Amino acid sequence: MKLLVTGGAGFIGSNFIRYMIREHPDYQIINLDKLTYAGNPDNLRDIESHPNYRFVQGDICDPAAVEPLAKAADLILNFAAETHVDRSILEPGGFIQTDVFGTYVLLEAAKRNNHERYIQISTDEVYGSIDRGAFTEASPLHPNSPYAASKAAGDLLVQSYVRTYGFPAIITRSSNNFGPYQYPEKVIPLFITNALEDKPLPLYGDGQNIRDWIYVIDNCAAIDLVLHRGRPGEVYNIGGGSERTNIGLTRFILNELGKPVGLIQYVKDRSGHDRRYALDCGKVAALGFKARHVFEDDLLETIRWYQEHAPWWQKIKSGEFQKYYDRMYAKRENG
Ligand code: NAD
Ligand code: DAU
Repeated sequence: MKLLVTGGAGFIGSNFIRYMIREHPDYQIINLDKLTYAGNPDNLRDIESHPNYRFVQGDICDPAAVEPLAKAADLILNFAAETHVDRSILEPGGFIQTDVFGTYVLLEAAKRNNHERYIQISTDEVYGSIDRGAFTEASPLHPNSPYAASKAAGDLLVQSYVRTYGFPAIITRSSNNFGPYQYPEKVIPLFITNALEDKPLPLYGDGQNIRDWIYVIDNCAAIDLVLHRGRPGEVYNIGGGSERTNIGLTRFILNELGKPVGLIQYVKDRSGHDRRYALDCGKVAALGFKARHVFEDDLLETIRWYQEHAPWWQKIKSGEFQKYYDRMYAKRENG
């Protein structure tokens, strides 16, 4: 099978490509990635010359870049997106462009080339926040950030292709991923690396917001399962079943690194901050999926990974990252 993976130089995409090359030695994978600030060739250094893998730098919003690759592939898995909520609050335009228009370009290319599957990698954030219980795939969409709204718009476009053209797309909506190669703007790698540098850990609001964490390899396994056993036209929630408060998570990281809780710095809350995410994952479980990983074990392993790969994150943090961070905080503090 020939897969066109978009956004494969980012966090989940790079873990997914490595996973698929290991699990399916007969598959060919093309990775189309624009290499935005979040795309990092270092994430796939170990397989860059693998005979079953090819990298192409390009934009999913550019039909001329997408068309020949779609023609050469059997199907597309779309991981490419602008993904960070705080950046979407600062500058939403790029999110609408990539997460909505880019999805449209891929759908058109897949339809034109008669692909038998299309996988849209989406997020639990499209449902919004829930105080009690859990969202099912039938829950209404209620996105609260420009990021979540752009992903919800992408999902609706995919679903319109399913209904209008009988297009064989499947959407996965996963909860918060963590693991190796995550850009250190996201809370887990940010807090681990700040703690390693003895810098403050900026905890938003009261720190009681809840996220359901899934180890990235579990999400990769679930996407692989949905690709092969999922029903076209369906949506599948993929959760880790590990709900934790941000303050609990933060204390765990500090404790494991032997750092003082005094490094916690409560800061002004994120605008429109979702309180809690939770997913009902009965549908993907019925396909045979169960998260194999235990949250605390994998968080420990993740902490070790960032300890052992300091050059990987130090290169990022000494580049574009700091400029974004300063801009984001200047804007947050000044309203
Ligand atoms: P990421 O930000 O680490 O990586 C995104 C990748 O997409 C980067 O390699 C970037 O260069 C590429 N990209 C961005 N715009 C592009 C464009 N126009 N054309 C081609 N490539 C482009 O993201 P991630 O955390 O790996 O997320 C991957 C997907 O999973 C996204 O669709 C995201 O919405 C979804 N998701 C992420 C999480 C999470 O916790 N990280 C949870 C649920 C869903
Ligand atoms: O739920 C899936 C989503 O998870 C994905 O769709 C997104 O792409 C991904 O970024 C993630 O979104 P979150 O907003 O939940 O992740 P983030 O790591 O930005 O924040 C997690 C929680 O930690 C959230 O409640 C905000 C809080 N936080 C975050 C940062 C960056 C802090 O308290 N301080 C911080 O500095």
